[in-house]
Amino acid sequence: MSRDGRGTCQFTTRSRSTLFSNLGLRGSPNDGPHWTGRRQRPEFFRALAVALLGFQTLLSGVEVRKPEVNGMKSEEIVARTRAEVQRRLAGQGAGHGFDHVERVLVSARRIQRETGGDPFVIELAVLLHDVGDAKFHDGVERSGQFAREILNELDVDNAVIEKVVHIVDNVSFRKRSTAAALSLEGQVVQDADRLDALGAIGIVRTIEYGASVGQPFYVAGDPTAKSGFAHFGEKLFKLRDLMNTQAGRHMSRQREEFMRTFLNQFLAECGESQESPVADA
Ligand SMILES: [Fe+2]
Repeated sequence: MSRDGRGTCQFTTRSRSTLFSNLGLRGSPNDGPHWTGRRQRPEFFRALAVALLGFQTLLSGVEVRKPEVNGMKSEEIVARTRAEVQRRLAGQGAGHGFDHVERVLVSARRIQRETGGDPFVIELAVLLHDVGDAKFHDGVERSGQFAREILNELDVDNAVIEKVVHIVDNVSFRKRSTAAALSLEGQVVQDADRLDALGAIGIVRTIEYGASVGQPFYVAGDPTAKSGFAHFGEKLFKLRDLMNTQAGRHMSRQREEFMRTFLNQFLAECGESQESPVADA
């Protein structure tokens, strides 16, 4: 491209030939007079518009393309699974309702960003991991069964269903002694699930649970009595060592510190300690 003496943009024969060639268009600079700003050829602009439209379509296609599972986009499967789980868990409280699932999702996404793992499998496993909690099904754990039913209903690929059900069947704290080895995705889900027992949420859940079963939070002078306070030492402060991932350990460490601060303040206000009886591990 060059400029003529009047400052008008002008394509040379060579540059126009190259442009046509780059656009994949037919045409020859010998088809007519050189194009100038004042002698525009409509067929050239039509061809250029078609090329630009095609390019734009290509770009937008790249932008919106998502993995598909049996014709349904993965994000749609996750959305439908989420809606179904939310419906089934409606009314479940004491730290095991859908609010728990949403918090586990937040932690799982945070861990996944550091450790990797298939986000589709992780999202589904988190959504479904408590859908058939034994506490709400006469003591029988049915999460794996329900997960399989829900995903089958959505026509999810069998390989994905098996991965998700394996995680759901093996993340529970109660099954830790008999659980099968977890995949990377399962480790992410398990860490995220355990994190929800710690920190400010862990304190609230412990108090809520105690209130729901009529258990005191603290029994003065009897540290071995069954209480919310004792639950921290019996279970919660042991969770950090059970974390699978570095990210999980780091997040649990922060939450532990907050719980210790709370417990020490609680004891101080009860006049039971001027020191730090709930020492760091
Ligand atoms: Fe859970």
